[in-house]
Parts: sequence; structure tokens; C-alpha cells
Amino acid sequence: MKLAVIEGDGIGREVIPAAVKVLDAFGLEFEKVPLELGYARWERTGTAMSSGDLETLKECNAVLFGAITTVPDPNYKSVLLTIRKELDLYANIRPVKPLPGITGITGKSDFDFIIVRENTEGLYSGIEEIGSDLSWTKRVITRKGSERIAEYACKLAKKRKNKLTIVHKSNVLKSDKLFLDVCRQTAADNRIEYEDMLVDSMAYSLMMYPERYDVVVTTNLFGDILSDMCAALVGSLGLVPSANIGDKYAFFEPVHGSAPDIAGKDIANPLAAILCVKMLLEWMGEPRSQIIDEAIANVLQKKIITPDLGGKASTMEVGNAVAEYVVKNL
Ligand code: IPM
Ligand code: MG
Repeated sequence: MKLAVIEGDGIGREVIPAAVKVLDAFGLEFEKVPLELGYARWERTGTAMSSGDLETLKECNAVLFGAITTVPDPNYKSVLLTIRKELDLYANIRPVKPLPGITGITGKSDFDFIIVRENTEGLYSGIEEIGSDLSWTKRVITRKGSERIAEYACKLAKKRKNKLTIVHKSNVLKSDKLFLDVCRQTAADNRIEYEDMLVDSMAYSLMMYPERYDVVVTTNLFGDILSDMCAALVGSLGLVPSANIGDKYAFFEPVHGSAPDIAGKDIANPLAAILCVKMLLEWMGEPRSQIIDEAIANVLQKKIITPDLGGKASTMEVGNAVAEYVVKNL
């Protein structure tokens, strides 16, 4: 197993070392391939990522990624989007589940659902023209793209409650009719109980009744927006992990960004990055991955927490405490 480790910029450089500590605690055979990509690299060399880096990534099986600050160059192509496209990471999986004792803005903790975001097309097609009087971006929905994300969501639903919510805006965006039809058909073929929701009313419903949902499948931009919104249900962006999965590769990243305002202070919450390690282990089929949930519950209970959660611990102190629990209880 070859794992590329990309800390990136800002707090990525703090939370990834803490997450790697937790990964190392499992004592598994990994060949780690550190790669420097992003804004700092661009400042130093003029490129955020080269084609050589992409080749290196393609020689790895999986990637653990921190965050990258967007490069202030009008011709900059997002490193993240390029990697998603090049490695064909078509499913962006974002579990929304409260951590023990932490509640978000609604005060609720009786929910546990997963956003399955189509990750390669929609409004992220990259097909656009920018002019001073007219700018447009093409929204691409294909049968193939919709089928594979619908299949992925159904596979997940089968392992959970056999329930799927399809989120779209087909009353206005006719392109979404294809997405909706394909998702409905795929769910029916897989004997999954399904419903569909318009994205605007889904946003409201997720805030009011998050406990109603289990697996939620949607197009690229809607998934992007809903997943940040749902981080408020959990309590903080610093607590939500994600996995970008394709047929060959997988890429794990916390939903939060590089947070330049708190970077370098050793106060960033590493729990989202640590939960990414759990998702990586699950993807590898490692049955002991669940111990990370226990370890996190333990450090939360002991109040070994970063300032965003009201504690005094540093990023690495949290990482070390989680890793120690894993080592003792494996
Ligand atoms: C995310 C981010 C990215 C996205 C950006 C940084 C390109 O917001 O992973 O959700 O829009 O997908
Ligand atoms: Mg986002």
C-alpha cells in the first residue's frame, strides 16, 4: 500500500502530522510518499502541481490530504479539482454525524447521514467562458456519471438503512431531470426505498429534521454547498471528514480549508483529519478502524480538545492522545 501524504498549506501542515500519528498507531505496512503541493510550493517554484506530481500520485493507491490555499493567479487551475479529475474520483463521501457530547447550532444529536456528492461533472465541468459582458459555465450531467454515483449511493444504502434521498433542482434545471431519472431507476433496480427533494427545500429540511435522512445523493455543486451547511449541524467544519473515491484510487481530506487566520498557531482541530484516517482504513477494509471513534470519544470526555471546542490542547496533543488510545486498545 502506497500512500501519498499532502499536507498542503495553512493548517493542513498541522492537522496532517497529527492524523499521521494516529495512522502510525495501527502499525500497518504503508509506504508514505510525501508531496509538497499548493500555494507555498507555487510561491517557491511558480507551480502548485506539476505533471510529474500527478504521475507520482498515480503510482500511489491512496492520498491523505490537508488543505490548499487558492493561488491568486487568474490562470490557476485548482489542484484539488485537477486531482479529482485525473484520478477519476467520482464519489465524494461526506458523513454527517455528531461526535459524543458536541452539538451544533440546532442542539440535536440524533442524526447520522451521509452526503454522496457527484464529484466530476455538474457545474464543475470546467467548460466555461469568461467575458466582461457575458460569462457562462456549462452544467454537464451524463447518464454514465449519474449511474455510477447512483450505484455508489445504493451500495452504501444497502449497508445502512436501505433508504435514499435524491437531491436535485429539476423544476428549473432541466439537466437535473436526467440525474433524477437515473437515480430513481438505479434505486428501483437495487430495491432501495427512495424519495426525492428539491435542493432548496432539502437545505431547510436538513437543518430542521436531520434525523430523517440516511444516504443523500446529489450533484456536484449542491453537494458542496449542503456539506458545508451540514457541518453546522455537527458543530464545526473542523469535525467533518470526506473521502473522494474512484474505482482505482481514493483521496481523503477534511472538509475544512487551510484557514490562514489560525495557521501556525498549533490550535487547529485535527479531528476531521483523524476521521479521514478512519475513512482511509475503512476503504482498505481494516476492521479495527472503529477504534478511532472510541479514541475520539475518550479524548473528548477527558477534554483534551482544541480551543474551537473550548479546550486548551494543541493540535498535536489531540493527535497524540488519540494515537495513544489506539495503541493501548488495539
Ligand atoms: C470542497 C471544496 C472544493 C470544492 C474547492 C476548494 C475546490 O469546497 O472540497 O468542498 O468546491 O469542491
Ligand atoms: Mg466545499
